[in-house]
Amino acid sequence: MEPVARSKIISNVLEGKLLGLLFYEPSTRTRLSFEAAMKRLGGGTVGFAEAGTSSATKGENLTDTVRIVAEYTDALVIRHNMEGTARYVAEMVDVPVINAGDGAGQHPTQTLLDLYTMKRLLGNIEELHVALVGDLKYGRTVHSLAYALAMFGARMSFVSPPELKMPREILHDLAGSGVNVQETSNIHDVLAYVDVLYVTRIQKERFPDPQEYLKIKGAYTIDSKLLENSEAIVMHPLPRVDEISHDVDNTPYGKYFQQAFYGVPVRMALLKSIIKKG
Ligand code: CP
Repeated sequence: MEPVARSKIISNVLEGKLLGLLFYEPSTRTRLSFEAAMKRLGGGTVGFAEAGTSSATKGENLTDTVRIVAEYTDALVIRHNMEGTARYVAEMVDVPVINAGDGAGQHPTQTLLDLYTMKRLLGNIEELHVALVGDLKYGRTVHSLAYALAMFGARMSFVSPPELKMPREILHDLAGSGVNVQETSNIHDVLAYVDVLYVTRIQKERFPDPQEYLKIKGAYTIDSKLLENSEAIVMHPLPRVDEISHDVDNTPYGKYFQQAFYGVPVRMALLKSIIKKG
């Protein structure tokens, strides 16, 4: 898929197919990479980037909207602020449904591209030690990634302020899979020996109390000086605010733009595998 994503090879394997994009929360990468992925494979997209342009503003409920768009399309991608929305929608319609992020729940296609990035850049995921850094409480990308890394048997360290630790139920699930995780609030505890620093934004929009966000914001800043004694690559699902300094962008450490590009070929592969031909 990579040469197709770079338009070095032309593909029409999804010609005549339509993907529905239902984004009830803002997005740059997920929405546009799904759109690019579908179009690179010869298909098309319909949908909305914010519910404000849909008939939700007239009072139409989620169920009716989804049922209608499912009638128009061959698969749906949905992002919503409520945990469990994609699973709920998948039970209502006959077309495949992809979770593009459900509140502070999960973001599974981000995890696919994260795993692809690690494998592409570093080799066997099984042999990696990955530090998940930042907002582990509300960050849906790290929830999905932790489960996936556990399936590969990768080592994990969780670095977060005490208020933003990985939810207890996820720690419980990981322990049930036989995965031991080191938890710390000090990034220096892991810097010297991890292969990947997977940094996340503090998810301001999920805090019930804005004052709590103000107390924690800026808890970690990864800059090139901090990385001097590390051999880790730095990944981030993006968007970033201030947790990775721009002076990391063009160093051998910074891989987040490459990671974002891999969202296109990975989502192309996913769409090709779930949308039926004919
Ligand atoms: N990584 C990610 O989900 O980015 P967007 O919010 O821009 O889609």
